Amino acid sequence: MKVHAIIQARCGSTRLPRKVLLKLGARTVLEQVIHQVSFSRSVSKIIVATTTSPDDQPIVDSLAGTKIGIYRGSELDVLERYRECADLFQSDIIVRVTADCPFIDPRLIDLCIEKLISGGYDYFGTITPPSFPDGLDVEVVTREALERAWQSALIPSEREHVTLHIRMHPDRFKIGNYRHDVDLSGIRLTLDEDRDYRALVTLTELAEQRCGKVVHLNDLLDLLRMHPEIQLINGSIVRDEGLSRSLRADGLKNFLDELSRSSMPTIRRSQELFERARAIIPGAAQTFSKGYTQYVQGVCPIYLDHGKGSIVWDVDGNSYVDLVQGLLPNILGYAHQEVNQAVKDQIDAGISFSLPHPLEIELAEDLRRIIPSAEMVRFGKNGSDVTAGAVRLARAYTGREVVACCGYHGWQDWFIGSTARHRGVPEAVRKLTIPFQYNEIESLAKIFTDHPDNVAAVILEPMNFVHPKPGFLEEVKSLAEQHGAVLIFDEICSGWHLGLGGVQKRTGVVPHLSCFGKAMGNGFPIAAVVGRGEIMRLMEEIFFSFTFGGEVASLAAARAVIRVLEREPVTQTMASWGNRVREVVQKNVANQSLEGRVQCLGEPQWWVMKFYDQEGKDSLALRSLFQQEVVKEGVLFLSTHNMNFTFGQSEFVIVERAYQKAFSVLAQAVREDRVEQMLEGSPIQAVFRVR
Ligand SMILES: Cc1ncc(COP(=O)(O)O)c(C=O)c1O
Repeated sequence: MKVHAIIQARCGSTRLPRKVLLKLGARTVLEQVIHQVSFSRSVSKIIVATTTSPDDQPIVDSLAGTKIGIYRGSELDVLERYRECADLFQSDIIVRVTADCPFIDPRLIDLCIEKLISGGYDYFGTITPPSFPDGLDVEVVTREALERAWQSALIPSEREHVTLHIRMHPDRFKIGNYRHDVDLSGIRLTLDEDRDYRALVTLTELAEQRCGKVVHLNDLLDLLRMHPEIQLINGSIVRDEGLSRSLRADGLKNFLDELSRSSMPTIRRSQELFERARAIIPGAAQTFSKGYTQYVQGVCPIYLDHGKGSIVWDVDGNSYVDLVQGLLPNILGYAHQEVNQAVKDQIDAGISFSLPHPLEIELAEDLRRIIPSAEMVRFGKNGSDVTAGAVRLARAYTGREVVACCGYHGWQDWFIGSTARHRGVPEAVRKLTIPFQYNEIESLAKIFTDHPDNVAAVILEPMNFVHPKPGFLEEVKSLAEQHGAVLIFDEICSGWHLGLGGVQKRTGVVPHLSCFGKAMGNGFPIAAVVGRGEIMRLMEEIFFSFTFGGEVASLAAARAVIRVLEREPVTQTMASWGNRVREVVQKNVANQSLEGRVQCLGEPQWWVMKFYDQEGKDSLALRSLFQQEVVKEGVLFLSTHNMNFTFGQSEFVIVERAYQKAFSVLAQAVREDRVEQMLEGSPIQAVFRVR
């Protein structure tokens, strides 16, 4: 049985003329395709099928002196070109290859040939639906099926796209498809545009350094994992654009719909995992804000697989610019090399020791140098550990019980009892924590009046998305001191994002105690409560102790983060890109007349987009619609913009395009009063509001 690979190649290309003769390293694109195919064990001959047009003579010339077969046939009727070529060379089985796929994988070719033969198929491929990267797809067809297709295909698009007629008639042809277990169809390794070429040149250089003679799918995935920036170059180009255009011209809308459905990013594996998780993990997540209630279901991914810098990949292989960054920790982006190296060095030496480790002192000394209120330091793992520790210290120090709070401070009883989600917290505990309003000093004063001599602590985020009114923080401090209460700044979020040293450093208002967490370890779990020595000393009398308090890998991570923040212009960089994204929002809001519906609040390195309904109330529906639209365009969005140091031009371009599209959908929904109807899945649910 003669198994031949027929590579269709032309010089004419509307988007990138003469693309097959461009250079990728030492070879032309066409030579690179031939090179890859030549490693197939089953293909006995490679033939290039080009056209009779003189424009394609350079292709023929470029193959002079090689063993490659050449056939010249019709320019537009590519089906006929293939059929005649297969006739001439007496091929029995034809691997259809296009000359714009320089990394086609010979192993996948062999696998499809084997499946076609053993299953007795007329056609076997990987594109119905696609699950391999664009450019790695394989189609294998028998000459007999090709002949039948040639006889009955009438529509121009069926003549232009060799296997389309066969794929459109599963009733007449026995068709098989091989699917990758993870959907990789969002990855682009084909050559249609200049952007593709740039991506492929970079990939070729890397492959030359790191891979063997032939490049396989796994090599490519490894390279893309190590260099996520490559996908940003061309990742947004729509798959199968040429085919879509000709199908549309031929009025084959149904098939086009099917095609686009099957090539849309899927979240199939996410959904499968979700079903498994629901049976065993209450809430199907460990953190409320990462759970399924916070993302439009049916559209947004539910599980992520890995991340690098600003980019994350979900378990279905889709990539996103991640504006959430793990809910703020990744200030230097995912998998930061220097931080990870510090941790790797440490884990080889052990991380959870039986006695304290010197790194505890070193990090404590770093924090004392950086944070104005830090005379002494203790560590925790989550923000909730250290806010609870600070509140217990304040109660121990003052001998009082009531806590005045402002903002969100964690999951523990003392705080969560004051919110709407207080089930399970005893009434006696709930009564002791009383919220006051930010920038409204009177609301705090009232708590002191209502609980004379019994307020142990005033705890607040000194700033989140709203700036303190002039004098507000000073007034809070003087009220607290006047009434003998401990002032605690919760800088879990503001710490590092609003500058190393937190808000206390920039405002000069120094609290008695303060709490840090989130960005401290760039994702490694570490938090700190710091403060005046005379209060902190009471740690020796209260109980603030847990097995992993001094876990060393995270201490090493925290020191590395501080080193980078002291060395590099992290805050400035995040602020500058944050500002640029905000300008995009403002421009679109103005262009789409959405004033009053969308507002940006906060500092450019950590800000939030608020959505309002007609009455000016927070609108979860509008937020959901915006999330739905930007997620489809490759942006993972909750509403906060947690900028990170690696966010740059490539990420900006993706966000800008996604926002532009989403705003036009939002405007249409608002105009037609159809916000809910335009949601493709269940909307985001409210957790509770404290900010
Ligand atoms: C201001 C503030 N304080 C405390 C916490 C609690 O931190 P964790 O979730 O790490 O326990 C959070 C978490 O979002 C927070 O935003």
